[in-house]
Amino acid sequence: MNIVYLNGEFMPVSQAKISPLDRGFLFGDGIYEVIPSYAGKMIGFIAHIDRMINGLAEIGINFNWDHAKWRELCDQLYQQNGGQALGIYLHISRGADNKRFHAYPENVEPTVFAMTFEIPIPEKPNKMTRKGYALKSIEDLRWQRCHIKSTALLGNVMHFQQGVEANCQEVLLYNDNQELTEASSSNIYIIKNGVVITPLLDHQILPGITRKLLLDILRKDGSIVVEERVVTLKEAKSADEIWISSSSKEIAPVTILDGKKVGDGQVGAVWEKAAELYTKNKFNY
Ligand code: PDD
Repeated sequence: MNIVYLNGEFMPVSQAKISPLDRGFLFGDGIYEVIPSYAGKMIGFIAHIDRMINGLAEIGINFNWDHAKWRELCDQLYQQNGGQALGIYLHISRGADNKRFHAYPENVEPTVFAMTFEIPIPEKPNKMTRKGYALKSIEDLRWQRCHIKSTALLGNVMHFQQGVEANCQEVLLYNDNQELTEASSSNIYIIKNGVVITPLLDHQILPGITRKLLLDILRKDGSIVVEERVVTLKEAKSADEIWISSSSKEIAPVTILDGKKVGDGQVGAVWEKAAELYTKNKFNY
């Protein structure tokens, strides 16, 4: 049974009810997180909670649970739901006012919701057996605050759907200077001559925790060079490898971009090495 948490109580998802005046429902006025957990061990827990706390501060939601309180909730949710590989979804909306009015209301309690969902159990990275993603490149038409992990995801949802309609599993987004931003639910990397290159963090992209961990792991290991800089769509089209990353898919290879092969069309050797390093070190975070 899927047991969820809502405002202080655990219950089956079918019993979880919120007000239609909840600002999360009316305006997408909230912040969320997804934390991957394998056999109860969360990856990047502190970094995920830090990002959520920053997001809440940025949109002026006053909610002051500390890391220990969030950990207790996540551990309880895991105990109630079990599972080998789970995404732990945390969601705080500004709460339900007694009317629909744009300004932030005063004296409204935030709504806190949490649930788990199954994510793939990561396999040992193997470039011979791993299937690559197909991506379609699309101009990024989302808002100017993509660094906030807002529950208002319509822009991302519409881009993801454009990928689905083109028989792709993700999209590669670029801005009006033809520079890469990210994917609709993942960060992006191109690999050229063995160097991993990923767009810099700014308002155009979500500071992904998988990205943060991967860059840290690669830099500490030192055998693969990493660059954070502007990356153009043109560079992506002639990359040797492309990867995407997120909490649920970890580091995933891309073998098709806009119907054409990426590099030789095979999953790459740099991906295999980086994914091995990620697999070996991720539990240290
Ligand atoms: N997506 N960029 C966007 C727009 C995202 O939505 C996500 C994550 C990422 C990767 O972030 P992280 O490595 O912290 O998961 C990048 C989540 C998992 C989701 O919406 O389901």
